Amino acid sequence: MNAFRAGIITVSDTASADASSDRSGPVLSEHLLTAGFSDVQRSVSPDDVQSIQTQLLRMVDSQHVHLIVTTGGTGFGLRDVTPEAVEPLITRKTPALTHALTNHSLQKTPLAALSRGITGIRRSPSGKEALIVCLPGSPKAVKECLEVLLGNDLLKHALELLN
Ligand code: MTE
Repeated sequence: MNAFRAGIITVSDTASADASSDRSGPVLSEHLLTAGFSDVQRSVSPDDVQSIQTQLLRMVDSQHVHLIVTTGGTGFGLRDVTPEAVEPLITRKTPALTHALTNHSLQKTPLAALSRGITGIRRSPSGKEALIVCLPGSPKAVKECLEVLLGNDLLKHALELLN
């Protein structure tokens, strides 16, 4: 996995006001580094479509990270807009990956039905592709979803298949 670089975006009004309250970003970063990613950068965005899109496009289209993981903003609340921000930026859909995350999550808690998290692939204008995975905001949910992504080398295999 050391050929790959990742970007993490914590989407949270609270963490945006006080970055030290971000508990899921560090969990993601630690696991991805342990899995062998050569570089993992983190940012925090408020629950705002334009801000999420700006940060994601900077990481994918300018910095050419191979993987983006967002955490938070997938629920039913009025301020939960991560799927609405990410979906228009996706150029190829990955429904089975979303299904795998949902299926595993539902085995952990029925409350997983309250996440509208999506996944997909974005091709930047220069032709490089990145995988985007939108996870719920709690550290517990992040850890459970990482079991799917890092188990059976799923993520490694997925990233090897992208341009
Ligand atoms: N998925 C997993 N695997 N584990 C969880 O504990 N919590 C759910 C759901 N998905 C949960 C989960 C809950 S309680 C909510 S409200 C939604 O994710 C949305 O979370 P978000 O708004 O922080 O993105």
